[in-house]
Amino acid sequence: MNRRNFLKRSGAGTLPLITGGLAGLAFRGGDAGAGVRTSTAGAAGLDEAMARAGATADAGLGEAAAGPVDGPAPVFLTRDGLGYSPTDYIAKLDQINKARPVKPDFYGARGTVEELLKAFVEMTGKEMAIFMPSGTLANQLAIQVLSGENSKVLVQETSHVYRDEADAAQSLYNKRLVPLAKGKYAFTLEELQQEVNYATHEEYFKTGIGAISIEIPVRRCDAQVFPIEEIKKISAWCREKGYKLHLDGARLHLASTWSGVSIREYASYFDTVYMCLYKYLGASSGAVLCGSKSVIEPMEHLVKVHGGAMYQNWANASMALHTLDGLEDRLRTAREKADRLFAALNKIPGLHVQPVPDGCNIYLLKVDKGYDGKTLAKVLREKYAVWTASPEEDGFSRLRVSEGVGTMDVDATVAAFKAAMPLAKV
Ligand SMILES: Cc1ncc(COP(=O)(O)O)c(C=O)c1O
Repeated sequence: MNRRNFLKRSGAGTLPLITGGLAGLAFRGGDAGAGVRTSTAGAAGLDEAMARAGATADAGLGEAAAGPVDGPAPVFLTRDGLGYSPTDYIAKLDQINKARPVKPDFYGARGTVEELLKAFVEMTGKEMAIFMPSGTLANQLAIQVLSGENSKVLVQETSHVYRDEADAAQSLYNKRLVPLAKGKYAFTLEELQQEVNYATHEEYFKTGIGAISIEIPVRRCDAQVFPIEEIKKISAWCREKGYKLHLDGARLHLASTWSGVSIREYASYFDTVYMCLYKYLGASSGAVLCGSKSVIEPMEHLVKVHGGAMYQNWANASMALHTLDGLEDRLRTAREKADRLFAALNKIPGLHVQPVPDGCNIYLLKVDKGYDGKTLAKVLREKYAVWTASPEEDGFSRLRVSEGVGTMDVDATVAAFKAAMPLAKV
Protein backbone atom coordinates (compact mmCIF):
# COMPACT_ATOMS: atom_id res chain seq x y z
CA MET A 1 0.00 0.00 0.00
CA ASN A 2 1.46 3.37 -0.84
CA ARG A 3 1.95 6.03 1.81
CA ARG A 4 -0.87 8.32 0.67
CA ASN A 5 -3.48 5.54 0.68
CA PHE A 6 -2.15 4.40 4.01
CA LEU A 7 -2.58 7.87 5.49
CA LYS A 8 -6.08 8.19 4.01
CA ARG A 9 -7.20 4.82 5.30
CA SER A 10 -5.72 5.43 8.71
CA GLY A 11 -7.36 8.81 9.05
CA ALA A 12 -4.01 10.54 9.39
CA GLY A 13 -4.62 12.33 6.12
CA THR A 14 -6.64 14.87 8.08
CA LEU A 15 -3.53 15.84 10.02
CA PRO A 16 -1.06 18.32 8.56
CA LEU A 17 1.50 16.37 6.55
CA ILE A 18 4.48 15.19 8.52
CA THR A 19 7.70 15.40 6.56
CA GLY A 20 10.97 14.01 7.62
CA GLY A 21 12.66 12.30 6.83
CA LEU A 22 36.42 -1.62 2.09
CA ALA A 23 39.09 -2.89 2.81
CA GLY A 24 41.05 -0.21 4.40
CA LEU A 25 43.08 2.52 3.02
CA ALA A 26 45.08 4.82 5.18
CA PHE A 27 45.50 8.45 4.36
CA ARG A 28 48.34 10.52 5.67
CA GLY A 29 47.52 14.16 6.28
CA GLY A 30 49.09 16.64 3.88
CA ASP A 31 50.37 13.85 1.65
CA ALA A 32 47.55 13.07 -0.74
CA GLY A 33 48.16 9.99 -2.77
CA ALA A 34 51.35 9.00 -1.00
CA GLY A 35 49.76 8.04 2.30
CA VAL A 36 47.77 5.15 0.91
CA ARG A 37 47.65 1.96 2.89
CA THR A 38 45.29 -0.95 2.55
CA SER A 39 43.62 -2.71 5.44
CA THR A 40 40.25 -3.93 6.78
CA ALA A 41 38.22 -7.01 8.02
CA GLY A 42 35.39 -8.57 9.98
CA ALA A 43 31.64 -8.28 9.87
CA ALA A 44 29.43 -5.47 11.06
CA GLY A 45 27.60 -6.20 14.30
CA LEU A 46 23.89 -6.04 14.91
CA ASP A 47 22.22 -2.71 14.75
CA GLU A 48 22.09 -1.28 18.25
CA ALA A 49 18.36 -0.80 18.06
CA MET A 50 17.81 -4.44 17.20
CA ALA A 51 19.91 -5.46 20.15
CA ARG A 52 17.94 -3.37 22.63
CA ALA A 53 15.38 -5.51 24.38
CA GLY A 54 11.84 -4.30 24.08
CA ALA A 55 12.47 -2.06 21.12
CA THR A 56 13.24 -4.64 18.50
CA ALA A 57 9.94 -4.50 16.69
CA ASP A 58 9.72 -0.74 16.78
CA ALA A 59 13.16 0.44 15.84
CA GLY A 60 16.14 -0.11 13.66
CA LEU A 61 16.42 -2.26 10.59
CA GLY A 62 12.77 -3.32 10.57
CA GLU A 63 11.82 0.26 9.80
CA ALA A 64 12.86 -0.12 6.21
CA ALA A 65 9.51 -1.69 5.41
CA ALA A 66 7.77 1.51 6.46
CA GLY A 67 9.77 3.77 4.20
CA PRO A 68 7.92 6.21 1.95
CA VAL A 69 6.66 5.00 -1.40
CA ASP A 70 5.27 8.09 -3.06
CA GLY A 71 4.36 10.33 -0.14
CA PRO A 72 6.12 12.33 2.52
CA ALA A 73 8.54 10.46 4.72
CA PRO A 74 7.47 9.43 8.20
CA VAL A 75 9.08 10.86 11.33
CA PHE A 76 11.56 8.48 12.93
CA LEU A 77 12.38 9.03 16.59
CA THR A 78 14.05 5.61 16.72
CA ARG A 79 17.34 6.12 14.93
CA ASP A 80 20.83 7.54 15.28
CA GLY A 81 21.01 8.12 11.53
CA LEU A 82 18.85 8.10 8.40
CA GLY A 83 18.62 4.31 8.17
CA TYR A 84 18.24 3.90 4.40
CA SER A 85 16.27 0.95 3.07
CA PRO A 86 18.11 -0.95 0.28
CA THR A 87 15.97 0.81 -2.35
CA ASP A 88 16.63 4.26 -0.89
CA TYR A 89 20.32 3.42 -0.50
CA ILE A 90 20.70 2.51 -4.16
CA ALA A 91 18.81 5.64 -5.23
CA LYS A 92 20.97 7.81 -2.96
CA LEU A 93 24.21 6.32 -4.32
CA ASP A 94 22.98 6.99 -7.84
CA GLN A 95 22.24 10.60 -6.90
CA ILE A 96 25.68 10.99 -5.27
CA ASN A 97 27.39 9.46 -8.31
CA LYS A 98 25.58 11.79 -10.71
CA ALA A 99 26.53 14.88 -8.72
CA ARG A 100 30.15 13.82 -8.20
CA PRO A 101 31.28 10.56 -9.79
CA VAL A 102 32.28 7.90 -7.29
CA LYS A 103 35.83 6.71 -7.89
CA PRO A 104 36.72 3.04 -7.38
CA ASP A 105 39.41 1.86 -5.01
CA PHE A 106 41.68 -1.14 -5.07
CA TYR A 107 41.75 -2.80 -1.66
CA GLY A 108 40.90 0.56 -0.21
CA ALA A 109 43.65 2.42 -1.99
CA ARG A 110 42.92 5.52 -4.06
CA GLY A 111 39.56 6.83 -5.24
CA THR A 112 36.67 7.91 -3.05
CA VAL A 113 38.00 5.96 -0.07
CA GLU A 114 41.07 8.14 -0.10
CA GLU A 115 38.90 11.27 -0.21
CA LEU A 116 36.98 10.00 2.80
CA LEU A 117 40.16 9.34 4.77
CA LYS A 118 41.43 12.81 3.91
CA ALA A 119 38.20 14.26 5.31
CA PHE A 120 38.72 12.27 8.53
CA VAL A 121 42.30 13.46 8.85
CA GLU A 122 41.14 17.06 8.50
CA MET A 123 38.22 16.58 10.88
CA THR A 124 40.21 14.89 13.66
CA GLY A 125 43.53 16.67 13.22
CA LYS A 126 45.32 13.31 13.32
CA GLU A 127 48.22 12.39 11.03
CA MET A 128 46.68 9.37 9.33
CA ALA A 129 43.42 7.52 8.88
CA ILE A 130 42.69 3.97 7.82
CA PHE A 131 39.51 2.36 6.53
CA MET A 132 38.35 -0.59 8.62
CA PRO A 133 35.57 -3.06 7.86
CA SER A 134 34.18 -2.79 11.40
CA GLY A 135 34.41 -0.76 14.56
CA THR A 136 35.18 -3.92 16.48
CA LEU A 137 38.36 -4.44 14.48
CA ALA A 138 39.25 -0.75 14.75
CA ASN A 139 38.91 -0.86 18.55
CA GLN A 140 40.81 -4.13 18.93
CA LEU A 141 43.71 -3.20 16.66
CA ALA A 142 44.02 0.25 18.21
CA ILE A 143 44.22 -1.25 21.68
CA GLN A 144 46.69 -3.88 20.56
CA VAL A 145 49.06 -1.50 18.81
CA LEU A 146 48.86 1.18 21.52
CA SER A 147 49.53 -1.38 24.26
CA GLY A 148 52.51 -3.13 22.72
CA GLU A 149 53.70 -5.87 25.08
CA ASN A 150 51.80 -4.47 28.08
CA SER A 151 48.77 -6.58 28.77
CA LYS A 152 46.35 -4.55 30.91
CA VAL A 153 43.81 -2.34 29.17
CA LEU A 154 41.49 -0.18 31.27
CA VAL A 155 37.96 0.32 29.95
CA GLN A 156 34.49 1.40 31.07
CA GLU A 157 32.62 -1.66 32.29
CA THR A 158 29.68 -0.56 30.13
CA SER A 159 31.75 -0.18 26.98
CA HIS A 160 31.41 -2.01 23.68
CA VAL A 161 35.04 -3.08 23.99
CA TYR A 162 34.33 -4.76 27.33
CA ARG A 163 30.84 -6.15 26.78
CA ASP A 164 30.27 -6.60 23.08
CA GLU A 165 33.45 -7.68 21.31
CA ALA A 166 33.36 -11.39 22.11
CA ASP A 167 36.38 -11.18 24.44
CA ALA A 168 38.56 -10.53 21.39
CA ALA A 169 41.08 -8.55 23.46
CA GLN A 170 41.59 -11.55 25.73
CA SER A 171 41.41 -14.36 23.20
CA LEU A 172 43.14 -12.88 20.16
CA TYR A 173 45.41 -10.19 21.52
CA ASN A 174 46.47 -11.47 24.98
CA LYS A 175 45.14 -8.38 26.71
CA ARG A 176 43.43 -8.32 30.08
CA LEU A 177 40.55 -5.85 30.08
CA VAL A 178 40.19 -4.16 33.48
CA PRO A 179 36.67 -2.74 33.92
CA LEU A 180 36.18 0.64 35.57
CA ALA A 181 32.98 2.46 36.61
CA LYS A 182 30.63 -0.53 36.77
CA GLY A 183 27.24 0.33 35.31
CA LYS A 184 28.30 3.92 34.67
CA TYR A 185 29.35 5.91 31.63
CA ALA A 186 32.38 7.67 33.14
CA PHE A 187 35.14 7.33 35.69
CA THR A 188 37.18 10.02 37.35
CA LEU A 189 40.92 10.57 37.14
CA GLU A 190 41.14 9.47 40.82
CA GLU A 191 39.38 6.19 40.04
CA LEU A 192 41.72 5.58 37.13
CA GLN A 193 44.76 6.37 39.30
CA GLN A 194 43.57 3.95 42.02
CA GLU A 195 43.26 1.13 39.50
CA VAL A 196 46.63 1.90 37.92
CA ASN A 197 48.22 2.03 41.40
CA TYR A 198 46.73 -1.31 42.28
CA ALA A 199 47.89 -2.89 39.03
CA THR A 200 51.35 -1.38 39.43
CA HIS A 201 52.02 -2.05 43.11
CA GLU A 202 49.79 -4.91 44.27
CA GLU A 203 50.52 -7.49 41.60
CA TYR A 204 53.68 -9.52 41.99
CA PHE A 205 54.29 -10.33 38.33
CA LYS A 206 54.31 -7.03 36.50
CA THR A 207 52.61 -7.00 33.13
CA GLY A 208 52.21 -3.29 32.58
CA ILE A 209 49.40 -0.92 31.70
CA GLY A 210 48.92 -0.98 27.95
CA ALA A 211 46.19 1.50 27.13
CA ILE A 212 43.02 3.14 28.37
CA SER A 213 40.00 2.96 26.10
CA ILE A 214 37.08 5.37 26.53
CA GLU A 215 33.73 5.22 24.73
CA ILE A 216 31.93 8.50 23.98
CA PRO A 217 28.93 8.47 24.01
CA VAL A 218 28.21 5.17 25.78
CA ARG A 219 25.74 3.07 23.88
CA ARG A 220 24.79 0.97 26.93
CA CYS A 221 24.15 4.07 29.07
CA ASP A 222 21.58 5.78 26.84
CA ALA A 223 24.37 7.61 24.99
CA GLN A 224 25.67 9.46 28.05
CA VAL A 225 28.75 11.54 27.37
CA PHE A 226 31.96 11.33 29.40
CA PRO A 227 32.44 14.88 30.82
CA ILE A 228 35.06 16.81 28.88
CA GLU A 229 36.65 18.30 32.01
CA GLU A 230 37.46 14.79 33.27
CA ILE A 231 38.76 13.77 29.83
CA LYS A 232 41.15 16.74 29.91
CA LYS A 233 42.51 15.69 33.33
CA ILE A 234 42.79 12.03 32.35
CA SER A 235 44.50 12.88 29.07
CA ALA A 236 47.05 15.20 30.73
CA TRP A 237 47.88 12.59 33.38
CA CYS A 238 48.14 9.74 30.86
CA ARG A 239 50.49 11.79 28.69
CA GLU A 240 52.65 12.58 31.72
CA LYS A 241 52.83 8.88 32.65
CA GLY A 242 53.15 7.56 29.09
CA TYR A 243 49.83 5.68 29.02
CA LYS A 244 48.08 5.62 25.63
CA LEU A 245 44.43 6.61 25.16
CA HIS A 246 41.98 5.22 22.61
CA LEU A 247 38.59 6.79 21.87
CA ASP A 248 35.70 4.59 20.76
CA GLY A 249 33.81 7.45 19.13
CA ALA A 250 31.38 5.29 17.18
CA ARG A 251 28.77 8.07 17.60
CA LEU A 252 31.11 10.99 18.24
CA HIS A 253 29.14 13.51 16.13
CA LEU A 254 26.13 12.95 18.37
CA ALA A 255 28.19 13.64 21.50
CA SER A 256 29.71 16.69 19.84
CA THR A 257 26.34 18.19 18.83
CA TRP A 258 25.05 18.04 22.38
CA SER A 259 28.23 18.78 24.35
CA GLY A 260 29.42 21.55 22.05
CA VAL A 261 32.93 20.02 22.02
CA SER A 262 34.25 19.68 18.46
CA ILE A 263 35.36 16.35 16.99
CA ARG A 264 38.84 17.81 16.66
CA GLU A 265 38.97 18.78 20.33
CA TYR A 266 37.79 15.33 21.44
CA ALA A 267 40.38 13.74 19.17
CA SER A 268 43.15 15.94 20.54
CA TYR A 269 42.96 14.25 23.97
CA PHE A 270 43.41 10.73 22.51
CA ASP A 271 46.10 8.83 20.63
CA THR A 272 43.62 7.01 18.39
CA VAL A 273 40.00 7.70 17.46
CA TYR A 274 37.57 5.31 15.80
CA MET A 275 34.33 6.53 14.23
CA CYS A 276 31.56 4.45 12.70
CA LEU A 277 30.43 4.90 9.09
CA TYR A 278 27.01 3.30 9.43
CA LYS A 279 25.48 4.57 12.66
CA TYR A 280 24.74 8.04 11.33
CA LEU A 281 27.00 8.50 8.29
CA GLY A 282 24.64 6.53 6.08
CA ALA A 283 26.99 3.72 4.92
CA SER A 284 25.90 0.11 5.18
CA SER A 285 28.99 -0.76 7.25
CA GLY A 286 32.55 0.27 7.92
CA ALA A 287 34.69 2.37 10.21
CA VAL A 288 37.64 4.74 10.16
CA LEU A 289 40.50 4.75 12.63
CA CYS A 290 42.68 7.86 12.98
CA GLY A 291 45.97 8.38 14.79
CA SER A 292 49.65 9.03 14.35
CA LYS A 293 51.57 7.54 11.44
CA SER A 294 53.45 5.20 13.77
CA VAL A 295 50.19 3.68 15.04
CA ILE A 296 48.20 3.61 11.80
CA GLU A 297 50.89 2.35 9.41
CA PRO A 298 51.20 -1.13 10.94
CA MET A 299 47.41 -1.53 10.66
CA GLU A 300 47.48 -2.47 6.97
CA HIS A 301 49.38 -5.60 7.80
CA LEU A 302 47.28 -6.42 10.87
CA VAL A 303 44.00 -6.01 9.02
CA LYS A 304 45.21 -8.43 6.35
CA VAL A 305 46.23 -10.90 9.05
CA HIS A 306 42.66 -10.81 10.35
CA GLY A 307 41.18 -11.36 6.90
CA GLY A 308 39.80 -7.87 6.63
CA ALA A 309 41.39 -6.57 3.46
CA MET A 310 38.35 -6.12 1.22
CA TYR A 311 38.64 -5.59 -2.52
CA GLN A 312 36.41 -2.53 -3.05
CA ASN A 313 34.92 -0.14 -0.56
CA TRP A 314 33.70 2.81 -2.59
CA ALA A 315 30.00 2.19 -1.87
CA ASN A 316 30.42 2.70 1.86
CA ALA A 317 33.02 5.43 1.46
CA SER A 318 30.99 7.55 -0.97
CA MET A 319 27.87 7.39 1.19
CA ALA A 320 29.82 8.39 4.32
CA LEU A 321 31.72 11.14 2.53
CA HIS A 322 28.47 12.56 1.18
CA THR A 323 26.77 12.46 4.60
CA LEU A 324 29.74 14.10 6.35
CA ASP A 325 29.28 17.20 4.23
CA GLY A 326 27.15 19.61 6.28
CA LEU A 327 26.32 16.97 8.91
CA GLU A 328 27.14 19.20 11.88
CA ASP A 329 24.66 21.87 10.71
CA ARG A 330 21.96 19.28 10.04
CA LEU A 331 22.43 17.74 13.48
CA ARG A 332 22.21 21.17 15.11
CA THR A 333 18.94 21.82 13.26
CA ALA A 334 17.63 18.41 14.30
CA ARG A 335 18.46 19.14 17.90
CA GLU A 336 16.70 22.52 17.79
CA LYS A 337 13.58 20.94 16.28
CA ALA A 338 13.65 18.14 18.82
CA ASP A 339 13.92 20.67 21.65
CA ARG A 340 10.81 22.42 20.34
CA LEU A 341 8.98 19.14 19.91
CA PHE A 342 9.78 17.88 23.41
CA ALA A 343 8.87 21.20 25.03
CA ALA A 344 5.47 20.99 23.30
CA LEU A 345 4.99 17.31 24.22
CA ASN A 346 5.55 18.17 27.88
CA LYS A 347 2.46 20.40 27.69
CA ILE A 348 0.23 17.47 26.61
CA PRO A 349 -1.55 16.02 29.67
CA GLY A 350 -0.19 12.59 30.60
CA LEU A 351 3.06 12.89 28.57
CA HIS A 352 6.53 13.57 29.92
CA VAL A 353 9.80 13.82 28.00
CA GLN A 354 13.12 14.43 29.70
CA PRO A 355 16.74 14.48 28.57
CA VAL A 356 19.18 11.90 29.93
CA PRO A 357 21.62 13.58 32.39
CA ASP A 358 24.92 14.16 30.54
CA GLY A 359 23.18 12.60 27.55
CA CYS A 360 23.02 13.49 23.90
CA ASN A 361 20.48 12.34 21.30
CA ILE A 362 18.37 10.02 23.48
CA TYR A 363 15.38 11.37 25.43
CA LEU A 364 13.14 9.51 27.87
CA LEU A 365 9.39 9.49 27.30
CA LYS A 366 6.95 8.34 29.97
CA VAL A 367 3.16 8.31 30.09
CA ASP A 368 1.09 8.77 33.26
CA LYS A 369 -0.86 5.94 34.85
CA GLY A 370 -4.02 5.44 32.87
CA TYR A 371 -2.17 5.42 29.53
CA ASP A 372 -0.37 2.54 27.84
CA GLY A 373 3.00 3.46 26.32
CA LYS A 374 3.03 0.47 24.00
CA THR A 375 -0.35 1.39 22.57
CA LEU A 376 0.79 5.00 22.18
CA ALA A 377 3.80 3.86 20.11
CA LYS A 378 1.60 1.58 18.00
CA VAL A 379 -1.02 4.28 17.33
CA LEU A 380 1.62 6.89 16.52
CA ARG A 381 3.29 4.52 14.09
CA GLU A 382 0.24 3.02 12.42
CA LYS A 383 -2.05 6.04 12.24
CA TYR A 384 0.36 8.96 12.05
CA ALA A 385 3.63 7.54 10.67
CA VAL A 386 5.52 8.79 13.72
CA TRP A 387 7.94 6.10 14.86
CA THR A 388 8.75 5.84 18.55
CA ALA A 389 9.96 2.89 20.60
CA SER A 390 7.82 0.99 23.09
CA PRO A 391 8.58 1.44 26.80
CA GLU A 392 11.36 -0.63 28.29
CA GLU A 393 11.42 -2.32 31.70
CA ASP A 394 11.98 0.99 33.50
CA GLY A 395 8.79 2.38 31.92
CA PHE A 396 10.62 4.84 29.64
CA SER A 397 10.52 4.82 25.85
CA ARG A 398 13.75 6.00 24.28
CA LEU A 399 13.29 8.74 21.69
CA ARG A 400 16.31 9.19 19.44
CA VAL A 401 17.14 12.35 17.59
CA SER A 402 18.94 11.90 14.27
CA GLU A 403 19.57 14.23 11.35
CA GLY A 404 16.26 13.15 9.77
CA VAL A 405 14.42 14.92 12.59
CA GLY A 406 15.69 18.17 11.09
CA THR A 407 13.10 17.96 8.31
CA MET A 408 10.22 17.16 10.67
CA ASP A 409 7.16 19.41 10.81
CA VAL A 410 7.13 20.05 14.56
CA ASP A 411 3.49 21.22 14.72
CA ALA A 412 2.27 18.20 12.78
CA THR A 413 4.20 15.84 15.02
CA VAL A 414 2.83 17.49 18.15
CA ALA A 415 -0.66 17.14 16.63
CA ALA A 416 -0.02 13.43 16.07
CA PHE A 417 0.89 12.93 19.74
CA LYS A 418 -2.18 14.94 20.84
CA ALA A 419 -4.42 12.83 18.65
CA ALA A 420 -2.80 9.55 19.72
CA MET A 421 -2.94 10.08 23.48
CA PRO A 422 -6.72 9.57 23.91
CA LEU A 423 -6.39 6.33 21.93
CA ALA A 424 -3.70 5.10 24.34
CA LYS A 425 -5.96 5.37 27.39
CA VAL A 426 -6.48 2.14 29.34
C1 LIG B 1 30.11 2.08 20.86
C2 LIG B 1 30.36 1.07 19.79
N1 LIG B 1 31.63 0.74 19.48
C3 LIG B 1 31.91 -0.16 18.53
C4 LIG B 1 30.91 -0.79 17.83
C5 LIG B 1 31.28 -1.83 16.81
O1 LIG B 1 30.99 -1.49 15.51
P1 LIG B 1 30.93 -2.60 14.36
O2 LIG B 1 29.53 -3.10 14.33
O3 LIG B 1 31.29 -1.83 13.14
O4 LIG B 1 31.89 -3.66 14.71
C6 LIG B 1 29.58 -0.50 18.11
C7 LIG B 1 28.48 -1.16 17.40
O5 LIG B 1 27.34 -1.17 17.76
C8 LIG B 1 29.28 0.45 19.14
O6 LIG B 1 28.03 0.76 19.47
